Amino acid sequence: MATPTDPAIHAVGLTKHFGDNHAVDGLDLTVPAGKVYGLLGPNGAGKTTTVRMLATLLRPDAGTATILGHDVVGEADAVRSRIALTGQFAALDDDLTGAENLRILARLLGHRPRPAAERAAELLSSFGLEDAADKLVKSYSGGMRRRLDIAASLIATPELLFLDEPTTGLDPAGRNQVWETVRSLAGQGVTILLTTQYLDEADQLADRLAVIDRGQVIAEGTPDELKAATGTGALRIRLAEPHRRDDVVHLLTASLGTSPQLDGDPAALTVTAIEPQRALAALSQLERAGIALASFALEQPSLDEVFLSLTGRAPQPDATEPATA
Ligand SMILES: Nc1ncnc2c1ncn2[C@@H]1O[C@H](COP(=O)(O)OP(=O)(O)O)[C@@H](O)[C@H]1O
Ligand SMILES: [Mg+2]
Repeated sequence: MATPTDPAIHAVGLTKHFGDNHAVDGLDLTVPAGKVYGLLGPNGAGKTTTVRMLATLLRPDAGTATILGHDVVGEADAVRSRIALTGQFAALDDDLTGAENLRILARLLGHRPRPAAERAAELLSSFGLEDAADKLVKSYSGGMRRRLDIAASLIATPELLFLDEPTTGLDPAGRNQVWETVRSLAGQGVTILLTTQYLDEADQLADRLAVIDRGQVIAEGTPDELKAATGTGALRIRLAEPHRRDDVVHLLTASLGTSPQLDGDPAALTVTAIEPQRALAALSQLERAGIALASFALEQPSLDEVFLSLTGRAPQPDATEPATA
């Protein structure tokens, strides 16, 4: 039986093997209701397989999962009536307009013609697609398509929405549009499980996140907790005298064993993944060498650095993956 305090998702030992491929391998996950939860991992980590099991599309080999208190195997119908899943572009017809697509899907869900048209109009307006409502979907940009796809999954107002890599393959403008959409849905209290291979995306959107690698959760927490756990940060320095930057690079490379990164600002340089004690030592070394600083800051590590410190390797999104996979 479901109770009001049930987490949105509770999975224990969730497992799916494809032959020798341990796609999901004893995954534990608890997602509180009413939050945006990120499932972050590189291509092939097991994100989609996990989502498919949680959404009742794939039967687990072992382990259990409940969605809002309902078992994904034993109570699949109860689960299905409470969730929606996007990433299924097949649901959209390119040769119809945005409004026609949503009206047809609403009719398929049992709405009568007038309520179907009203629901379609409401969704188009809340997704900023009013002006595109009567244009063919094949003329939409990537970001518009992705928003229409999310709108299509919301016709029946789910309690829990699965967004499987909602921004993969989008340009920065399209990605921003989808981010705004996710934020606005979260503001309305919909629980969202978002998978992503983009570390900055999880950082931007997720209240909490699980880092998954090879079918298992290797770290869990808020983005800030995960960053703090690495014990390192980025030391950003601006020099009072830009012409001394080469000297500084020389000094720091010799004492730290890694070269600082240079950016477009000729007075600035950054040392990534440095521990606070070593950052302090580096700064006093510069002072002893008579190098004047305009400013310096020790910033939180990027989630890339977090992944590196957890796995010993950098995440490597697979560029060959089709954008709509
Ligand atoms: N239907 C399938 N048959 C065989 N192998 C699969 C199938 N689906 C996924 N896999 C494999 O399982 C692993 C995890 O895949 P997936 O869950 O799609 O990862 P992600 O979504 O994190 O990129 C990958 O090695 C993938 O090739
Ligand atoms: Mg995937």
